[in-house]
Amino acid sequence: MDQADSLRQLAAAGKIAKRPLRVYAVTSGKGGVGKTNVTANLAVVAARAGKRVLIIDADLGLANVEIVLGLKPRYHLGDLLDKGLSVSDVLCEGPAGVMLLGAGSGVRSLTHLSDEQKMQFISALDPIEEMFDIVLIDSGAGIGDNVLFFVGAAQEAILVVSPEPTSLVDAYATVKVLSQKAGVHTFNVIVNPVVDELAARGIFQKLTAVTGKFLEAKVRHLGYIPRDENLHRAIMAQRPVCEMFPSSPSARAIASIGERLLADKQTGAMAQDPQAPALGGGLKFMWQRLFRESQAVAG
Ligand SMILES: Nc1ncnc2c1ncn2[C@@H]1O[C@H](COP(=O)(O)OP(=O)(O)OP(=O)(O)O)[C@@H](O)[C@H]1O
Ligand SMILES: [Mg+2]
Repeated sequence: MDQADSLRQLAAAGKIAKRPLRVYAVTSGKGGVGKTNVTANLAVVAARAGKRVLIIDADLGLANVEIVLGLKPRYHLGDLLDKGLSVSDVLCEGPAGVMLLGAGSGVRSLTHLSDEQKMQFISALDPIEEMFDIVLIDSGAGIGDNVLFFVGAAQEAILVVSPEPTSLVDAYATVKVLSQKAGVHTFNVIVNPVVDELAARGIFQKLTAVTGKFLEAKVRHLGYIPRDENLHRAIMAQRPVCEMFPSSPSARAIASIGERLLADKQTGAMAQDPQAPALGGGLKFMWQRLFRESQAVAG
């Protein structure tokens, strides 16, 4: 038996922990605060750092990620069910090798799926576990059923907050619902757009003044992104700003946020939930747990 064989046997026996897939849901309370751009650009940063990155566009009906990445995927999430395609059939490759599982109108019906169909959908996503290191889910704003479903598959949320008072109130509501209903433990806050670090810290403190008082969830300051005309120009060119203008202020801010995220080994339900690694972690575990809980509630 060679070394690879013995490693495989050990892994099969559960003696070597598989490197867990890290799943982040990018979300916000209020719409239009930069989720899609944060998702696309963080994905590019992580891919450039050598990670195998998948974006799931869960912002149903709008399919924004493909626009920001300049892609026209042939298939979408819904085709996993409707056309019985495999996950590798429906993926589409974008800049820096980032892979995209696009949103499609078919996915709109996700909340209306039967339990059997939900399980079928979850099983269809199984191979993702082996294919990628990081999954970024661009979830819609707010707390609708589809958002809960997708965000519930993540160990952590990246919460994009704009400096407007309404955004803060909505961000609080989002932390509340996602921590209580979708089991998200940790919220990494990005303030966007904001003038400087000091202003970003001020916004963050306003948010944690309330989350810290009323909620259990861990809310951390991940970084801020300055308002930057280059970001807008990149959107118009349908390219991520980190690709098109890598030394612009917004691209540099996103790059350092990405580095911080990649360097962070302590985060995630994986670290906090002793059950998770035993079950393989990642998407499937989270969805199965949600599924069981929803059945328990229904029963
Ligand atoms: N740092 C920034 N500098 C300049 N403009 C920005 C910045 N961040 C976001 N924008 C502007 O905000 C718009 C919305 O960004 P984006 O589509 O990423 O938000 P979103 O949260 O995904 O929106 P939705 O809720 O509609 O999905 C962009 O088209 C861009 O014009
Ligand atoms: Mg969006």
